[in-house]
This record gives sequence, C-alpha cells and structure tokens, in this order.
Amino acid sequence: MRGTLPESFLQELAELEESYLRESDPIRQSGFGGGPARWRAEREPLLDAIDADGDLLDTCCANGYLLECLVEWGRERGIAITPHGLDLGARLVELARKRLPLHAANLHVGNTWEWEPPRRYRYVYALTDCVPVEYLPALVTRLLGRIVEPGGRLILGAYGSRLAPPLAARRGGLSRLDTGACRGTRDGRGSADHVVRLDRRAGGRSIVRMM
Ligand SMILES: C[S@@+](CC[C@H](N)C(=O)[O-])C[C@H]1O[C@@H](n2cnc3c(N)ncnc32)[C@H](O)[C@@H]1O
Repeated sequence: MRGTLPESFLQELAELEESYLRESDPIRQSGFGGGPARWRAEREPLLDAIDADGDLLDTCCANGYLLECLVEWGRERGIAITPHGLDLGARLVELARKRLPLHAANLHVGNTWEWEPPRRYRYVYALTDCVPVEYLPALVTRLLGRIVEPGGRLILGAYGSRLAPPLAARRGGLSRLDTGACRGTRDGRGSADHVVRLDRRAGGRSIVRMM
C-alpha cells in the first residue's frame, strides 16, 4: 500500500501537535498523561530491546523527551545511545532540537510513512498508531527495509493505544514476516507487553519477539 495518508488522519496529527504544544510539562508535551513514575515504567522497557551501543531513531519523537530519557536510562545500564528523531510536527521538532542541542542535526521533520532517511539506524522505534491500521504492514516492511540497518532492530510500541502490537500483528499482517521465533518474554515490568521488536536479519528474514 503506497500513496499519502488520508487527509483526516493528517488533520488529527496536526491537532495532536496543537494539544501537545499547549502543555509545558515535557511528559504531557509528549502526549502522556500518567506522570513521571508511569512514564518511566511504561517507556523504559524499550531499552530491553537495546542491548548494545548504537544510534536510535524515534520516528514519532514529539518534543524529544523520550529520546532524552532513553539516553539517560541507557547510560545507567552502561549503554551509549545516540539519539535521532523524526516527527511530523515542525514545532515539536524545534522543541526537540532545543532539548537535545548536541544532536539537533539528527532531528528531522517528516512523515514516518513516506520519509526518505539520510542514513539507516541500528535501532528504530515506531508507534503502531502513527499510521491507520491498514497501513501498518506496509509501514513495517518499509521501516525494516529502508530505515533499519542490516542486523538492526525495529521496536514497535502501542502504549495507551487501542491496538496492542500482538493484535496489530495479527490484523495488520505482520505474519507475513517470520513469526517463528515469536514468544512471550514478559517480565512483569511496566507495559512491556505492548512492545514488539523485529530484528532485521540477513536474507530479509525478520525475527519477531513480543517483549
Ligand atoms: C505520543 S507522541 C510520542 C512521543 C514519544 N515518541 C513516545 O513514544 O512517548 C506521538 C507523536 O507522534 C507523531 N506522529 C504520529 N504519526 C506520525 C507520522 N506518521 N509521522 C511522523 N510523526 C508522527 C505525532 O506528531 C506526535 O508528536
């Protein structure tokens, strides 16, 4: 499936940016209403998919706060993450550049659905609801094929979404990828069951793991 995203969906994203910009708290400005403890509990499990130093692209980076946190939490685990970001909201990306001035050149304005990356990234994080659900299989294929570097990893999150990745995987056709290694590794922390990671392997095969 190609073409642009539906106008109504893009309009919703524009309204989302307006609502984030009305907030001053960085967590709320990231679209999260649960406060600092839940923020960390629900977002830190992303790091369980990041097991070595490397570049991380957040394809829905908003104000860059998640990237800033992941760099810090990664440092606590002895992992050096170089932050990269993308968001459709130009004013949010402006905030992200101010938040991460040393990495301002890594922060881009664009639509995850059609963005042409200047390079590839070892780790790519995307939200399953950054496209309408019927676009999800094509998005995953594109992210794995064009944006994740060979040997790298796509991390999908569905926090607070009506559509958790396991369901999205079934509905959206992720089964077209190799789901043979799919297994539950839930450890009871945060909302890690709403994160799925897909490894880009040689030969185009991908390993899907529900975390
Ligand atoms: C809930 S915030 C995510 C903040 C942070 N990445 C996180 O996971 O907590 C969602 C952000 O995704 C952006 N977004 C949604 N769909 C997008 C798309 N197709 N392309 C680029 N940005 C998108 C929105 O503009 C918004 O800033």
